[in-house]
Amino acid sequence: MIRKCLFPVAGYGTRFLPATKSMPKEMLPIVNKPLVQYGVEEAVKAGLDNVTFVTGRGKRAIADHFDISYELEHQIAGTSKEKYLDEIRYLIDNVNFSFTRQNNMLGLGHAILTGEPLIGDEAFGVVLADDLCFGEDDGVMAQMVKLYNQFRCTIVAIEEVPEDEVHKYGVIQGESMMEGLYRVTDMVEKPSKEEAPSNLAIIGRYILTPDIFDKIRNTPPGRNGEVQITDAILQQAKEGCVLAYKFKGKRFDCGSVDGFVEATNFCYQNIYKDPTAE
Ligand code: G1P
Repeated sequence: MIRKCLFPVAGYGTRFLPATKSMPKEMLPIVNKPLVQYGVEEAVKAGLDNVTFVTGRGKRAIADHFDISYELEHQIAGTSKEKYLDEIRYLIDNVNFSFTRQNNMLGLGHAILTGEPLIGDEAFGVVLADDLCFGEDDGVMAQMVKLYNQFRCTIVAIEEVPEDEVHKYGVIQGESMMEGLYRVTDMVEKPSKEEAPSNLAIIGRYILTPDIFDKIRNTPPGRNGEVQITDAILQQAKEGCVLAYKFKGKRFDCGSVDGFVEATNFCYQNIYKDPTAE
């Protein structure tokens, strides 16, 4: 059983400055809900109700968001506005949240390793909240948990991207096992078009087996001088099995302004429900 999900949320969000000068980028709203809450809801729907944040300086608003706000709740108790808090109250009541801080930003691999004391010796999910995902039936993490229960190994979510965008992602090479599922034979972090082994890009959903922590410890800094999770997963792939899964659904790159606006329009038209409308 996978019970835990790790959210690396220490990054700066420089592409959204000045909005993210004093506010965590994960708290930017897509319509009326912070980006990170969509990710937590996806994890919880997949049964991952232990949520660990690897945060950093200036990110306290995330911890406050997932906690009771007595004064606010007292003020709106018994009014029509109470409904606005239904979804977040559900999470507060049903999820076990934990927090740790990444003091130095040394890369995504390093952020995940920072969460080790809170994860321990068990397989866990990772959600990069910037990638906002909507699954077709099940959410993307729920689709991956089903696969994990069958194959019991590390799984990365992938998507086909245009050739001129491969440099933004970790890119895999794989042997097709069945429709939408590959066994990873190679993976490269942010390759040039020429270096890229395919156009199958890793998106921000992972299930990692706990041996990843030792692999990260033994991973030297890679692309951009950062400890890359892609490099650590490649070690797992070389020694055992790593799967890449073309998820069923839609993804928005909310780390970019274009993706953020697209996600906003999509959610407003398809997802948003006015809590006060009957
Ligand atoms: C990270 C990973 C990369 C992955 C991407 C997905 O990069 O390092 O392999 O493809 O997330 O969003 P980042 O976007 O943090 O630079």
